[in-house]
Amino acid sequence: MGNYLVVGHSSGIGRALTLLLTEAGHKVHGISRGSLGPAAHAHIADVTTDPLPHIDDPLDGIAYCPGSITLKPFRGLKPADIQKDLDINVLGAVRVLQHYLPNLQKAESPSVVLFSTVAAGTGMPYHASVAIAKAAVEGLTKSLAAEWAPKIRVNCIAPSLTDTPLAARLLDTEEKRSAAAARHPLKVTGRTEDIAAAARLLLSDQSRFTTGQVWHIDGGISSVRI
Ligand SMILES: NC(=O)c1ccc[n+]([C@@H]2O[C@H](COP(=O)([O-])OP(=O)(O)OC[C@H]3O[C@@H](n4cnc5c(N)ncnc54)[C@H](OP(=O)(O)O)[C@@H]3O)[C@@H](O)[C@H]2O)c1
Repeated sequence: MGNYLVVGHSSGIGRALTLLLTEAGHKVHGISRGSLGPAAHAHIADVTTDPLPHIDDPLDGIAYCPGSITLKPFRGLKPADIQKDLDINVLGAVRVLQHYLPNLQKAESPSVVLFSTVAAGTGMPYHASVAIAKAAVEGLTKSLAAEWAPKIRVNCIAPSLTDTPLAARLLDTEEKRSAAAARHPLKVTGRTEDIAAAARLLLSDQSRFTTGQVWHIDGGISSVRI
């Protein structure tokens, strides 16, 4: 059994991933700022500002789940909005990966999963700030996959709209849910389990031949037109 760190285990995709890893018998460390999540070894920290908790175990995998969905017309975007998106999506991930690199190095075949968004690869109105930040996450994924090969694999998942607390206001009426589902070729929006299953695969040795990839788990919206 392995040791994993899920940053953002208290909600959404990170919570679903933590449950999958725990059910499979792995030891899961979790970090979040407030409410405790399902990880057996839960730590409280704001990964953008606080000292990061010490973990003794080698880490077979890290999933960095904190993120944002900032939707604002470009003309009203302030530098502070963009900085906030960079802090949570990019610089938090950088801090976490630098801090826990020794733990990854101690594991046999470690793997890292980061999160982008469909809006980094496909232009969508009002997404400029989050697209800037997530495009940086995709760049980080590829750079680190190169720098850390062959020991540590680094991949990224780019979901489309998924039913989590982060996306709640985009899916809080039946009309919004149906309209969002209708935009996707598969005519559904994402469930946390859909994305967590992909993250779990990328964290496991079943994806041992995969690194530096951005995996679009998005109901086909980024690549299919029907
Ligand atoms: N949901 C979607 O539709 C969607 C679409 C595209 C991309 N994504 C991306 O997928 C990833 C997961 O999204 P989600 O919807 O599952 O998010 P979520 O429901 O908001 O969960 C985020 C998790 O991260 C933790 N977190 C947030 N800020 C933190 C901080 N500064 N320090 C420590 N922990 C922090 C939260 O716990 P606390 O609040 O307790 O800290 C929570 O456990 C994100 O990167 C998001 O951008 C999501």
